[in-house]
Amino acid sequence: MLDSMRSAHRRKESLSLFLLHREQLVRLLVNLQSSMAAMSSEVLEQMRKVELLKDKFGFDAAFNYKEEPDLTVALKRYFPEGIDIYFENVGGPMLDAVLLNMRMHGRIAVCGMVSQHGMTDPAGIHNLFCLVPKRISMKGFIQSDYINLFPQFVDYMTKHYKDGKIAYVEDMSIGLENAPAAFVGLFSGKNVGKQVVCVSQE
Ligand SMILES: NC(=O)c1ccc[n+]([C@@H]2O[C@H](COP(=O)([O-])OP(=O)(O)OC[C@H]3O[C@@H](n4cnc5c(N)ncnc54)[C@H](OP(=O)(O)O)[C@@H]3O)[C@@H](O)[C@H]2O)c1
Repeated sequence: MLDSMRSAHRRKESLSLFLLHREQLVRLLVNLQSSMAAMSSEVLEQMRKVELLKDKFGFDAAFNYKEEPDLTVALKRYFPEGIDIYFENVGGPMLDAVLLNMRMHGRIAVCGMVSQHGMTDPAGIHNLFCLVPKRISMKGFIQSDYINLFPQFVDYMTKHYKDGKIAYVEDMSIGLENAPAAFVGLFSGKNVGKQVVCVSQE
């Protein structure tokens, strides 16, 4: 995966769109390769998340997707020349808006579709026709297929973390009894950073 990211950025593609938190990691890797990107954020911790994305993680732009009346217009505002690479973690209306804003020969890596989790009637995607005229490639992946690269990944990340090139934020709930609330909070964006639950202190 690291190799494909590197080669993607060697092509000097101008703009990419990523979303938090697994996306934090992707953004950090991309940041090391020098690029521009924007992220979407949430309403409750809106200012905090948006500022965090720009100030701590070094994104060129960030916006709160919950406050945008029209996601297609919002993306056009942040990506006036279109999107080359989209790391898909959201699905639903965001994916539809992204498809309309993709550039020719753009690529979409599909990691997840968190907006559709638990829905009995998942939202349909309306703009898939964009794949044809824009020659867009869209491909899913599962991390376990690349588990052999994990030691290489740890070495890579450890080095850059120690060099201060990687920022990481955790949102820690203390105690197993708080795990259900932490889990439920994920679906409303209550957490800021990776949600973890501390079950014991050594
Ligand atoms: N392919 C794989 O190997 C693999 C592995 C693990 C996980 N996944 C998938 O990756 C996805 C994300 O997992 P995660 O652990 O990164 O989740 P996470 O830490 O909870 O982060 C989810 C992110 O999506 C955003 N989000 C949630 N609903 C949204 C919506 N309706 N519109 C726009 N953004 C929205 C959240 O933003 P706010 O906080 O601002 O709401 C948050 O930044 C899931 O679908 C999961 O199943 C895939």
